Amino acid sequence: MDRVVLIGFMGVGKSTVAKHLAKILRCEKLDLDDYIEENEKLSPAEIITLYGEKFFRELETKYLKKALETEAKVIALGGGTWAKEQNRKMIMQSGCVTVWLMSTFDRCWLNIKASNKRRPLAADREKAAELFAEREKLYCLADLHIPIPSHATSQEIARIIAEAVFKI
Ligand code: S3P
Repeated sequence: MDRVVLIGFMGVGKSTVAKHLAKILRCEKLDLDDYIEENEKLSPAEIITLYGEKFFRELETKYLKKALETEAKVIALGGGTWAKEQNRKMIMQSGCVTVWLMSTFDRCWLNIKASNKRRPLAADREKAAELFAEREKLYCLADLHIPIPSHATSQEIARIIAEAVFKI
């Protein structure tokens, strides 16, 4: 079975969808932010705040490499992971299907605001909107684009992906 890598902006629901998708596919999943936190004992938000984004990006690349060596068949990236060329190359060379969870900025922003996950790179709406516009140009390089229907649950989105990728 091909590995599925979930890509998309902060607040789009990558982590929750990954959990449901792994359940449907009966396989291991890995959430890159959680993986970093488990190993570093600091969350990505804490690392960015304490040591800066550049330092975080280096760590993120290191853990992405390790993640791609695990058995996990579903991997949820952080919102910025796919934005770095080195990471995209590594992911593409590892032979997986990349899936972009597409949503509007407004919906992501609502989720960011409602969530208790801290996201220092989305501290204000204007900057987050700029980042969204920049990132869209790269997210669209993913193999599959899955527009998220409004009101769809994470479970329903996971189903849509399972059907799109594995025809199940
Ligand atoms: C980031 C997204 C976050 C986390 C970090 C940086 C980004 O993950 O990796 O705060 O640059 O978009 P989520 O996309 O899960 O929020």
